[in-house]
Amino acid sequence: MDLKLDFPGIQTRLTDSEVDIICEGIKSAKSLSMGPNLKAFEDNFASFVGVENAFGVSSATAALELAAILCRVEEGDEVLLPAHTFAATALPFIRRKAKIVFVDIDPETFVMDTNDLAKKVTNKSKVIVPVHLYGLPVKMDVVMDIASKNGLLVVEDCAQAPGAEYCGKKVGSWGDFGCFSFHGQKNITTLGEGGMLTTNSTKYVEEILGLRKIGARPFLNQKKYWQPAMSNIIEAIPGEIPYNFAMGEIQALAGDLILKRIGKINEVRRNQAAQIIDALSDFSELSFQKVPENCLSAYHLFPARYEGSNGKTRDDLIDLLFTKYGIKTVVQYYPLYKYELFINNGCSGGNCPETDRFFDNMISFPFASDMDPKDIDYLISSTKSAMKELRGEA
Ligand SMILES: Cc1ncc(COP(=O)(O)O)c(C=O)c1O
Repeated sequence: MDLKLDFPGIQTRLTDSEVDIICEGIKSAKSLSMGPNLKAFEDNFASFVGVENAFGVSSATAALELAAILCRVEEGDEVLLPAHTFAATALPFIRRKAKIVFVDIDPETFVMDTNDLAKKVTNKSKVIVPVHLYGLPVKMDVVMDIASKNGLLVVEDCAQAPGAEYCGKKVGSWGDFGCFSFHGQKNITTLGEGGMLTTNSTKYVEEILGLRKIGARPFLNQKKYWQPAMSNIIEAIPGEIPYNFAMGEIQALAGDLILKRIGKINEVRRNQAAQIIDALSDFSELSFQKVPENCLSAYHLFPARYEGSNGKTRDDLIDLLFTKYGIKTVVQYYPLYKYELFINNGCSGGNCPETDRFFDNMISFPFASDMDPKDIDYLISSTKSAMKELRGEA
């Protein structure tokens, strides 16, 4: 079978002039770690998000790991997060033996349902992890209200949503922490892997610096640079042994270059999505992610719900698009409570009916920054033809 349209391995490609700048950066670099590029990227990212502090790390998973430590999550603490997300959202909290309480999704926006969140808060709750999935923000004013009334911390999973806004304020600036991904398949990439941890609070700065890079910090009152040693190794939080989660200099340079044009990248993605949604609007059996008026989506992915007539299912649509048109669509995401890893770690039984329903009828279309207009037309015409055939009209 001839595959005509697939998910790209790289969402946002570097331009030729960006590649030239990166090559020059490699040639002229005085160091490849913890240097001026990382500082520049962190400063620019912090002002882009609208926070005081941003720390370049090796992945969003590393950012989430640090956030779980900074929240002082301990065995038995309840952490509220959606089961409809990528597994990395939950892993750092499971590692710390938290009890994961799964929050259902809203059937129209496909992200955390804040009514269900409010119902699932108990006196053991410690952290809420709203996930701005597919680039769409969760209702952050409601999340923050629930958090402040119950004394909870908020870790925003912004892996899929750099530049997304809720009520005019960027994701990653609402909660106590924001965790971003620069994996190769994200809207911004730092040459394959990378992430950013954001926080408005200065009280965490020394702890993050101590935990992120092997605990290496200057000795206090050091008289000579070599005495008593080049650097101290600190235990920023008692009992927490530091990691090496730092981002390299060339990765930071690449991220900073793409950051300069992320506004434009996201705008193109929104326009592409609008074109496809508009072209398929006569097919009521297909409903795309609802973007509320007070939200600006980063459109990281392009999911929809298919509820066919004549007993036709999402599987029939995926199958037809693949076999007849060579278009690869996928199902995202396996509800976390169905994975053996989660079941084995005490996270079974989601009580999330909308999550289960969406898993059964969702379809995610191939999408990228700057798609070829011919590919968009082919996606539209093939999806129309496939849905007509499933209606019995073809
Ligand atoms: C929602 C979500 N959270 C976290 C992650 C983890 O990101 P990273 O691959 O940078 O660790 C991803 C990556 O796909 C994700 O989609």
